[in-house]
Amino acid sequence: MIDTAKLTSLLPTKMRGRLEGWLEALDILLEVRDPRVLRSLGPSGVKGLILRRAKQGVPTKTRARHEAHFDWTYPADNPEMRKLYERAKKGQWNSDSTLAWSTSVDPYDPARPLLPDGFLDFDALEARGPKLDARERARLVHSVASWMLSQFLHGEQGALFAAAQVTEAVQFYDGKLYGATQVMDEGRHVEVFHRYLDEKLCKLYQLNDNLFVIIDALMTDSRWDMKFLGMQIMVEGLALGAFGTLYRQTGEPLLKELLKYVIRDEARHVHYGVLALRQHFRELSDSERREREDWAFEVALLMRDRFLAVEVYEEWFEGVMSRGQWKSFVTETPGMVQFRQTMFSRLVPNLREIGLVSPRIVPRYRKVGLAQYMNGLAADRIDGAGMIADLDRAA
Ligand SMILES: [Fe+2]
Ligand SMILES: [Fe+2]
Repeated sequence: MIDTAKLTSLLPTKMRGRLEGWLEALDILLEVRDPRVLRSLGPSGVKGLILRRAKQGVPTKTRARHEAHFDWTYPADNPEMRKLYERAKKGQWNSDSTLAWSTSVDPYDPARPLLPDGFLDFDALEARGPKLDARERARLVHSVASWMLSQFLHGEQGALFAAAQVTEAVQFYDGKLYGATQVMDEGRHVEVFHRYLDEKLCKLYQLNDNLFVIIDALMTDSRWDMKFLGMQIMVEGLALGAFGTLYRQTGEPLLKELLKYVIRDEARHVHYGVLALRQHFRELSDSERREREDWAFEVALLMRDRFLAVEVYEEWFEGVMSRGQWKSFVTETPGMVQFRQTMFSRLVPNLREIGLVSPRIVPRYRKVGLAQYMNGLAADRIDGAGMIADLDRAA
């Protein structure tokens, strides 16, 4: 067996970074057990992890393959979706007049920290080599916060296009009306995250390669329910958890207010995903349902284990410590531990609710430590206002 760590340590820094990236890509693809899941993620994995399309600084062109579904009879076919549509119309907001954009944001102001003290464990970082003074620590926190918000922004662009595609493809007429409001919501989310990063943090990171893989796989899948599952349940469900953690932890008032409004919208989106998929998955064959169950599990793992701010590592620590050391640091640092907990406490109950956590797969969830979230409330049981009240209580 080849000792890859020893082999890569002999290479120049830049080349080592590339090789470590490729080995990681190989690792991810080898981990996927279900061949159907591999077929669905594989081509996007090559584009994202090997060719690194997200890092080329040029627009990505992706060919969609879904069918648009027209219904010229306009049936009242889903009262719950109709209710969500009514709620969404009332919940629209204009960021220009709703958010106090005149707030001055200083990422280094200790009285209004972007992330709380202790979010990053600097002793653990120092034990791996890098020793930062107070100013550098504050700059690293600024980088990590900008990285997270940049990934939210890129995720929102994915959500905007996925919402548009799903609105075309879905068979529920009431769902199409609701979907139109979601397209508007996602457009607004792209607007506010981009404006915050551009005007207030003055920093924007490129799309993370693993997030690219997931978004690309969804965009190119011809099955509407896979787009739905990927975007409305997985990406949005995890984003909702991440927004919630950041909402609770940030001391920067404009960001907190922005997140509050985004969370209220996102709660409707995930609710819609649960409504549409719960019904649809009941009608699938066993084999089709199993494929989705495996796919959701693999994507959850991908997001848990691979979403580790390597872009920040490449900017700050490449050549100073190894990727492996950075990853163990990010995995164990308190702020990110909290993030993962909140994300999965939102996601796993939704997967259960739509029928994708059968007894067959529970042992795999248990093995990777995700079974503890199994009994939480799903998105159709908790609305945006309830979610904010919960987060305020926990703060
Ligand atoms: Fe969104
Ligand atoms: Fe959304």
